[in-house]
Amino acid sequence: MSGKRELPRRTAGGGNSLFAPSAERARGATKRRISKSGLIAIVITAALLFWIPLELHLSNNAPGTETVTVRSNRLPEAFDGFRIVQLSDLHQKTFGKDNETLLGLVRDAKPDMIALTGDLIDSVEAFSYAVELLPKLTAIAPVYYVTGNHEWSADGKTAYMGRNRLITRLEDAVTESGGVWLDSSFCTLERGGERIILAGLCDPNGPRTEPNVHELRQMIEREQDAELFSLLLSHRHDIDYTHSGFDVVLSGHAHGGVIRLPFTDGLRGPAREWFPKGTSGLLRQGDTQVVVSRGLGDTYFPRFLNRPQVVVVVLSCQEGK
Ligand SMILES: [Fe+2]
Repeated sequence: MSGKRELPRRTAGGGNSLFAPSAERARGATKRRISKSGLIAIVITAALLFWIPLELHLSNNAPGTETVTVRSNRLPEAFDGFRIVQLSDLHQKTFGKDNETLLGLVRDAKPDMIALTGDLIDSVEAFSYAVELLPKLTAIAPVYYVTGNHEWSADGKTAYMGRNRLITRLEDAVTESGGVWLDSSFCTLERGGERIILAGLCDPNGPRTEPNVHELRQMIEREQDAELFSLLLSHRHDIDYTHSGFDVVLSGHAHGGVIRLPFTDGLRGPAREWFPKGTSGLLRQGDTQVVVSRGLGDTYFPRFLNRPQVVVVVLSCQEGK
């Protein structure tokens, strides 16, 4: 019969020519979907590749100033607004040429005193760092120094064995620059005819003969009016200061937990514990307010999401405001 209909021919690829356009459309749509998700993956990867090195750079090389107001109705009025720059855990880190970036932040803070709360350097080889930095700081404001754990173990000695070569040289460098070596001692600060006590705790890595926080407090109370407002410089954030009798403690040591993942207080503590607590900020232990600096340097692992911190402590006698 001449009116016979032709059956559809199969294509070379095994497809059916009648259905080929819709099949190609389907393949095209799939290609477009893959392209979209591929593009998103490329954008995310590129952003991470840009952001991670940038954040690493900022967390290790771009210090910032953070102000912490410590309020107490025990503070004499003459000390209202007293400004303390706290530098902690530098670990011989240099910011800018000759540390000018760091020094600029300290100058801009217009401090009444500078508190160095330990781990300025952590090796004998880094001694020249301290010798260069200390006079530049004492030229800005009176400097008070307490040791950290690293200074006591810097000379290859096990902790608790007594003074190493670094500690002796460091004490000389502090005093020769015009600063005050405050380990296991105290002094009074005077302003407008009123006084407060400033004390320094030797790091527990020091000799066993050095007083602990309670013995230091007893030492002060034997010689001074126990009612005076008192401020303690102490490297360790993790000592129990609850019954120490000090109004305020300035501490460091924890480096903010090194990597400050969101919703945590850092990833690693100074004892290499996971997810440490109390590594940053203004904390309260009983009647004692403890400032915990995140510090400026690092030791075993670079900082991340954790800008080096110059703390400016402002004392205020206006409690609750
Ligand atoms: Fe440290």
